[in-house]
Amino acid sequence: MRNKLVAGNWKMHGSLTVNAGLLEGVRAGVAGLSADVAVCVPYPYLDQAETGLTGSNVAWGAQDVSEHALGAYTGEVSAAMLLDFGCRYVIVGHSERRSYYGDTDAIVAAKFEAALKVGLVPIFCVGETLDEREKSITAEVVTRQLDAVIERCGVAALAGAVIAYEPVWAIGTGRTATPEQAQEVHALIRQRVAQDDSGIAAGVRILYGGSMKPANARELMAQPDIDGGLIGGAALVAADFIAICAAA
Ligand code: 13P
Repeated sequence: MRNKLVAGNWKMHGSLTVNAGLLEGVRAGVAGLSADVAVCVPYPYLDQAETGLTGSNVAWGAQDVSEHALGAYTGEVSAAMLLDFGCRYVIVGHSERRSYYGDTDAIVAAKFEAALKVGLVPIFCVGETLDEREKSITAEVVTRQLDAVIERCGVAALAGAVIAYEPVWAIGTGRTATPEQAQEVHALIRQRVAQDDSGIAAGVRILYGGSMKPANARELMAQPDIDGGLIGGAALVAADFIAICAAA
């Protein structure tokens, strides 16, 4: 049985003042829930997340990581630095990184490897654009993204990771994939992993992301291959995020 995971991705939102209320609200609101809960915050707020969430049942993490361990890479943040702030998770391959910052499949695989190497749990994002869905190449795109990581790190690496399916056309658009559309791709992802290792496929958690909110969370997470959510907008409102965690 895979325990559900709900991870908030704050993206580039927040301030010390706003975060203080949000962290406190989430901490109190999810106490006692059975789902695993995490928030992925902007780098400067990792210390605040660590201080505000230590001792709670909410884990924290970052939204990206360098593929390099250390060195002359101005502006980058290494996996070991994230560990210094108590992170458990780090998002790699988010579609916004892929489309705005040039993260290719190869770079994403290298970031995945760098995170895993220090013991962080990568939340590895895959997903097709609207154009790709309309061309009926969703399976091809998602498989290519998965294969890049499996080829570099081996299928066994997925045992220490979480996969997130985020259809790009559903992110921040209010347009959610239907439970059936999402389940279809989640099943395809699990089948691809099962081709190499059925045990790992059965255990790996696959989250759905893309306009998940209290009103649709329960139905999405009731699908057999949807093991939780990666939440953007609704993670910025404590009551909404808590309601999604409760649905999980
Ligand atoms: P929204 O929930 O705002 O659509 O964002 C989803 C997402 O990109 C989470 O990583």
